[in-house]
Parts: sequence; structure tokens; C-alpha cells
Amino acid sequence: MADLSVRIGELVLRNPVMPASGCFAIEYREALDLTQLGALVIKSVSPASRAGNPTPRVAETHGGMLNSIGIPSKGLDYYRHHVLPAYTGYGTPVVVSISADTAESFGEACEGVSLPEVAAIEANISCPNLEADGMAFAMSPETTYKAVRAIRSKTAHPFWVKLTPNASNIAAVARAAEDAGADAIVMGNTVLGMAIDVRSRKPKLGNVMGGLSGPAIKPIALRLVHQCYRAVRIPIIGCGGIQTAEDAAEFMLAGASAVQVGTASFRDPGVMPKIVEGLERLCAETGVACVRELTGQVELDRQLSDRWLRFAQQSG
Ligand SMILES: Cc1cc2nc3c(=O)[nH]c(=O)nc-3n(C[C@H](O)[C@H](O)[C@H](O)COP(=O)(O)O)c2cc1C
Repeated sequence: MADLSVRIGELVLRNPVMPASGCFAIEYREALDLTQLGALVIKSVSPASRAGNPTPRVAETHGGMLNSIGIPSKGLDYYRHHVLPAYTGYGTPVVVSISADTAESFGEACEGVSLPEVAAIEANISCPNLEADGMAFAMSPETTYKAVRAIRSKTAHPFWVKLTPNASNIAAVARAAEDAGADAIVMGNTVLGMAIDVRSRKPKLGNVMGGLSGPAIKPIALRLVHQCYRAVRIPIIGCGGIQTAEDAAEFMLAGASAVQVGTASFRDPGVMPKIVEGLERLCAETGVACVRELTGQVELDRQLSDRWLRFAQQSG
């Protein structure tokens, strides 16, 4: 049997498969054994209490879905006492995802969840930054650096930073996150999209635009993971359209050390353990002793690879 364990900084996970934030809730324990997952990533929480976006908040698209859920929140105190405890006690590392609207508030919120029962903090910096007219922090290297720095100065906990596929220069953003002290990169969040009902002529989402997720975005996410892998030395957790063990292996070959599964769990709540079993089979079939050996092992022609690397560094 292959060794499926992976390492994200100082954290060792029993396997590389974990849920994507917002696509998993404690009720999933009815559908799958939570001790079979690499980690439990909880829906993002924001320090301030808020209602979330106008409805409708989801719309189906070809090969995926659009969502504009926002981050409805009852605040950090409520979260610490009424949400977090349900996830601890499975022996599976718990990852708390934080969203905030200023760099300072990111730092304070991450400090507030730096608890012994929290294995790692994921900062969802793909959310709007009030100090930059609502443009997501991770859209630029400067605002990424500022947010990550603010968090790093407030917590010694393992801390991952979740980037957005909407940024044009992803290599520069990833490097800014690494330089500012992030322990790992999650690549990444949803792709900005829109859908219109041609009869009512209204946008299908109450918020007009929203995030596209699911298989439709997989090639984009895979490309971004590879660009990040070439830009930084910290581990990368791949996310975007993963549905099968082959998808997970593809992300690992592109450079991911672990993967997150989002939309696929809405179609099949039991999909994550199936991906774990599939990875085990794939390793056995292909003679891989440890799944972590896959990370970054996509075979590239050497000359092409060097040229591509220069291109990636220039254009991100
Ligand atoms: C309904 C829904 C809610 C989401 N909520 C969050 C969230 O709270 N925080 C976050 O960082 N990402 C959130 N995401 C993004 C997912 O974590 C993931 O990055 C994205 O969906 C791409 O992965 P997938 O194609 O496997 O779904 C959400 C996605 C969906 C579809």
C-alpha cells in the first residue's frame, strides 16, 4: 500500500485530500468518515457579523456552478463557541478559514483563531479589500504582501493563503505571499463569472456576478498551480474542479502537495474518500511508493521548460 501522507510546512496530513472552504459542513459526517480525510477545512468566517449577498446565490452552468454566497457570519465569538467545536475530536487536522476586509482585521481575526485545536489557518485573501475600493487583496502583489504581513505578525500558527485565479500576475502574487511569511499557498478560489436569464433578462445571481467553480475551471486552476510551483518554494495546495483521483494526481504532478475538493462534493457528498482510495490504486498501478513523490513531477522537455520558466517569471 502506498504511503499517502504529505507534509504542508510543519503539518503532516494522513493523505492529500481535504474539502475546499464553503463546500463542506459538519453534516457531511453523515455521508463520509471524517477520519479518512487529510484535513477538515471549514467555511470562511469573518470577524464582523454580516448577512451575506442578495439571493439568488447560486446558478448552475455547463461544467460547474456560479455562486455569490458571500461570507455570512455571526462573528468570531459565535464561531469559536458554536461552529469550531463540532470539527475537533476526529483526529483530523482542523483548518479555519478567515475572510476580512482590511489587512489589520485579517491579522486580528487570525490571532483570535490561533487556538490549540486549530491545526492551520487559511486566509481567504480572495475577498474584497475595503482599503482598495473592494478589489480582492490577492489581485495584486502589494495588497497580498500587506495582508500576509499583517497576519504573520499576529500568529505563529501554520498559515495558508488562498489566492484568486482572477489575478493576472500570479507568480508575483505568490512570491509576495511567500516573502511576507505565508507557510503555504492554496491555489485557488473561484473564477469571476456571470449568467443571464434570457426571458426575464435578469442576471441569474442576485449579486450580478459570482464565482465559477467545478470542472469548467480545472485547466485554469491547474495552470495556476504550476505557475505558483515555479515561482515559490513553499507548498501549494491545489483547488479547482477536482472530481477524481486522476484530477488530484494531475494537480500534484503540476506542483501541488495536497488538494481541496469543492463543488464535486455537492454532486456526491462521498467523493473525497473515493478520491483517497483512487489515489492509493493509482500509486499501486504506477509503482509510486509515496504519493508526495508526485509533486511537481510533470515531465517537461528541458529546453522548453527553461524557456517557459523565463516566460512565467516575466509575465506571471
Ligand atoms: C457555494 C460555495 C461557497 C464557497 N465559499 C467559500 C468560502 O467561504 N471561502 C473560500 O475561501 N472559498 C469558498 N468557495 C470557493 C471554494 O473553496 C473553491 O476554492 C472553489 O469552489 C474552487 O474549487 P471547486 O471547483 O472544487 O469547487 C466557495 C465555493 C462555493 C461553490
